[in-house]
Amino acid sequence: MEETKRPRVLSGIQPTGGFTLGNYIGAIRNWDKLQDDCECLYCVVDLHSITIRHEPAALRRQIREAAAMLLACGVDPGRAVLFIQGDVSAHAELSWILSCYTQFGELSRMTQFKDKSQKHPENVNAGLFTYPVLMAADILLYQADLVPIGADQKQHLELARNIAERFNGIYGEVFTVPEGYFPKVGGRVMSLQDPASKMSKSDENENAKIMLTDGPDAIIRKFKRAVTDSESTVCAAENKPGIVNLMTIYSALSGRSFEEIEREFEGRGYGDFKLAVGECVASELAPIQGEYARILADKSYLDGVLAEGASRASALAQRTLAKVSRKIGLK
Ligand code: TRP
Repeated sequence: MEETKRPRVLSGIQPTGGFTLGNYIGAIRNWDKLQDDCECLYCVVDLHSITIRHEPAALRRQIREAAAMLLACGVDPGRAVLFIQGDVSAHAELSWILSCYTQFGELSRMTQFKDKSQKHPENVNAGLFTYPVLMAADILLYQADLVPIGADQKQHLELARNIAERFNGIYGEVFTVPEGYFPKVGGRVMSLQDPASKMSKSDENENAKIMLTDGPDAIIRKFKRAVTDSESTVCAAENKPGIVNLMTIYSALSGRSFEEIEREFEGRGYGDFKLAVGECVASELAPIQGEYARILADKSYLDGVLAEGASRASALAQRTLAKVSRKIGLK
């Protein structure tokens, strides 16, 4: 079948805290597009989410919500495998094995670990430290060629590549060494309140982020309040990070280039522009929200998709895990 020739794609997303417009433009939207030409596996990485203290009932709900939102955003179980990481036990098993091929020093250099341990000094657990090893296991288990990720995950992907190369160096060609896949526009959607930092789902300021579940009024209000600068020309200048961020969002969703956007808003103020971006985002999200509500309400459909996804993913994962176990002498 031609299937074996298509590049294999794997990506994961944490379920906690919902998804932002940044997650959508930078990641999820591209997951949809990749399904045409690649063999795609997408997972909700629930095991990664427990590195930070959480409420069990909320996590349980958020895992399902995340899966429903991915489906609503175009992940198509007919063309991709959608599954929950924790449903496939091979992830945790391979993670342990790979942790024995990862150096303490390498993990100590991970900037996300440093950031998160500063943010949660009361809970610098070993899982937070070995988080990138589990991510490497997610990727290497499926022999992924391409890994769509945001810029903030580059360092983790590099580590996964190093682990794969090291392991292959000792035991022969066991793992495919994966490449990162980065979106052309909108890889980094910034906070609406502080365009110097990334739009983050954990931002306490609601006005800084657009959630995919936000209604049109909230979306338009947040864009109206977006921090810009004291000028009034819509143009992509270096000293206008707020405007550039809004232009990036508008460009990613409308397909218009920066030049076209500059022309469209020539002689019009920021007020007009912010409203247009808000309306554009609201109309992009409206059908997604309708689908999301419908899928979430259809328990048996969602259960079915996830059970099927888990079984297809397990079958692939077991092959790699069995090979690894043989290579290292566990079998
Ligand atoms: N660490 C990633 C993030 O926070 C999520 C993730 C987990 C992931 N496993 C993955 C992404 C495997 C790509 C591939 O964004």
